[in-house]
Amino acid sequence: MEIIRQPNAMTSWSDEMRDAGRSICLVSTMGFFHEGHLALMRKGSEIADEVVVSLFVNPMQFGPQEDLSSYPRVFEKDAAMAREVGVAVMFAPAPEDVYAPGFQSRVEVDGLTEQLCGRSRPGHFRGVTTVVAKLFNMVKPHFAVFGEKDFQQLAVLRRMTVDLNFDLQIIGHPIVREQDGLAMSSRNSYLDEEERRQALSLHQALLLARQRVEGGERDAVRLQEELGGFFKKFDRAEVDYVAVVDSENLNAATVINEKSLLALAVKIGKTRLIDNTLLMG
Ligand code: PAJ
Repeated sequence: MEIIRQPNAMTSWSDEMRDAGRSICLVSTMGFFHEGHLALMRKGSEIADEVVVSLFVNPMQFGPQEDLSSYPRVFEKDAAMAREVGVAVMFAPAPEDVYAPGFQSRVEVDGLTEQLCGRSRPGHFRGVTTVVAKLFNMVKPHFAVFGEKDFQQLAVLRRMTVDLNFDLQIIGHPIVREQDGLAMSSRNSYLDEEERRQALSLHQALLLARQRVEGGERDAVRLQEELGGFFKKFDRAEVDYVAVVDSENLNAATVINEKSLLALAVKIGKTRLIDNTLLMG
């Protein structure tokens, strides 16, 4: 596996591959890999000849009160894991090479970014779309895989790709979970023992919701209220949102149907966790 630091060197590598007729899949990450990240990389090798993993803890998508400086960084371990699953290139640029002095441009998607996480993390999605657009230009992939764990991020990036005519295909990957159901996340490492136990409340709430819908519940507001009550049983849990939305446009739903998605953001202690599920099917 090659490690590339310079954006220009990355683009040259991709140009060579493209000239040789080889397809490229990009998996964008902020590192501290777990099975979720590895699953995306394996998916990448199924669909393309070469997988490029970008590892960049993107300052632009962190709010002033968020965990940029404490975000876990374990470069050597990540590189070994990526090598193990057959990644061709780990692209790990320095912040000053991504945001060179004088940098003044932003990529912004309206609408979709105004709901859910967009409300509690102002500027977050602007940071994500800006860096991913730049990564698309630096890596020139034919495919890019993103996880459904960050459902809104995936929707926003699909929108950006269509709206800005990026010539690549976005692929979504299902959520990878721990054995007990907790969605894998680099941020799970922040949880102490009791918080780790209470973090299961997110998955339990998704299961409860699906059970209610299977039992005939179609009223989104009533379901949200019941789930709000459910989280009150967990003293370390503080709900940011419990939302039933249309999975295509992320607008609030009133009646539950095949397109309805339940999205959760809950703080467990100081750690904000997200999870989601389609409610039918
Ligand atoms: P990061 O949180 O490192 O996630 C990288 C990719 O892994 C994202 O597409 C995310 O949705 C996916 N992922 C994380 N946990 C997952 C899980 N349990 N199951 C399936 N997929 C999972 O998301 C980001 O980084 C950044 O915002 C980024 C897109 C790299 C832009 O900076």
